[in-house]
Amino acid sequence: MQTSRYGYFRRLVHAAIALFGLGLLGVGMLFYFFGFQGLQAKLGAETTSILYMYHKSFGLVVLVLALFVFFMRKRGGVPPYDPPLAMLLRLPSKLIHWLMILALIVMPILGLIGTIAGGHPVSFFDWSLPQLVSENKALSEQFFHYHMLVGWVLLGLVAIHLAAAYLHGAIAHDKVNSRMGLF
Ligand code: HEM
Repeated sequence: MQTSRYGYFRRLVHAAIALFGLGLLGVGMLFYFFGFQGLQAKLGAETTSILYMYHKSFGLVVLVLALFVFFMRKRGGVPPYDPPLAMLLRLPSKLIHWLMILALIVMPILGLIGTIAGGHPVSFFDWSLPQLVSENKALSEQFFHYHMLVGWVLLGLVAIHLAAAYLHGAIAHDKVNSRMGLF
């Protein structure tokens, strides 16, 4: 069964993407439902700006990880299924994986451009990038609108992905989940 697992580093990257991705979607929903001012009123200004700083920082981390996965897939594909995956599942599972990877790349880029255009600091933990272009609020709003739309799409894809993982693990009892398991 060893041959049909992803390499250890790829499995580590998947665990990081899963953890940070779920966290970012959760925090993103807080931003969506409460807004900046609403969150400030609920959590205080300091906690709110810390949340935004971590959202931006981990968004950039996920961008780098998703780009890595993209190039690894392009270069080496995925390990063979042993036993082979049912014909009917092959195409949809491939499609969902590629769509998730693309969404995980596009979403941080949209957020990054929206942040820059809005004149907000681009934070990466303790560092802040200088403001390189002039502020354009309308452009920023447009980018955040698409950032949010891709977020909903990603949430739907992740829900399908988690349902599939549950079906493989709890119903089919095949070894598909162990391909990506850490242990
Ligand atoms: C308990 C939770 C999860 C389990 C058990 C799980 C399981 C898996 C498995 C088994 C694969 C490989 C599928 C195959 O090659 O047939 C995979 C791939 C993938 N998963 Fe998950 N996953 C989980 C959570 C997540 C989450 C939350 C995300 C995104 C936020 C995610 C994103 C991805 C991506 C992008 C791939 C393709 C990775 C690559 O090609 O290296 N997964 N997952």
